[in-house]
Amino acid sequence: MNATMTGWIAAGAFDLKAAIQAPHAQHPVLVHFPIALFIASAVFEVLAMWRKQPVFGAVAYFNLLGAALSLPFTIATGLGAWRWQLEGAKLKGILQLHLLCALTSAALILVLWWKRSRLHAQQRQPGAGYFALMTFGLLMITLTGHLGGILSGVEPP
Ligand code: HEM
Repeated sequence: MNATMTGWIAAGAFDLKAAIQAPHAQHPVLVHFPIALFIASAVFEVLAMWRKQPVFGAVAYFNLLGAALSLPFTIATGLGAWRWQLEGAKLKGILQLHLLCALTSAALILVLWWKRSRLHAQQRQPGAGYFALMTFGLLMITLTGHLGGILSGVEPP
């Protein structure tokens, strides 16, 4: 929760309309979709392999699809937060790192989704290479979220 929202709640006047319409307010809401759906996809991928249940593989595929579909909105609102919340601050330090990690995570999710959709169509299970890329993706999205938290002030630097 950022300082503005904390202020509204402290004042006992949470203005839902203002929160939805604030041009920078959508990013902290939308970030949960790629993060949560990608993590859920990874969990189901491991379950599919461990329990030898193809249905878990299908769940992993659809969660990954959701993560991929939510990416354009998350990136667009991130650029909006940069423009309005940080008033177009110079691209350096944590902001630069957050943007780089976000774009790397997005690229990894898209590559994984492309690989996963081919495997899904052929009714095959992913191999070691897929799991290695997925682990790297999980590390990148964790770092992206952590850096985003520092930017919005919810996490100490
Ligand atoms: C996969 C894409 C992305 C993810 C997962 C992501 C994740 C996050 C997270 C978790 C936060 C903290 C939200 C909070 O709790 O308040 C955040 C904040 C922020 N992100 Fe991103 N982000 C992404 C893309 C981007 C992009 C492309 C930019 C453009 C530079 C960006 C700029 C920002 C800014 C400026 C904040 C601070 C917002 C505020 O103070 O309210 N993000 N991000």
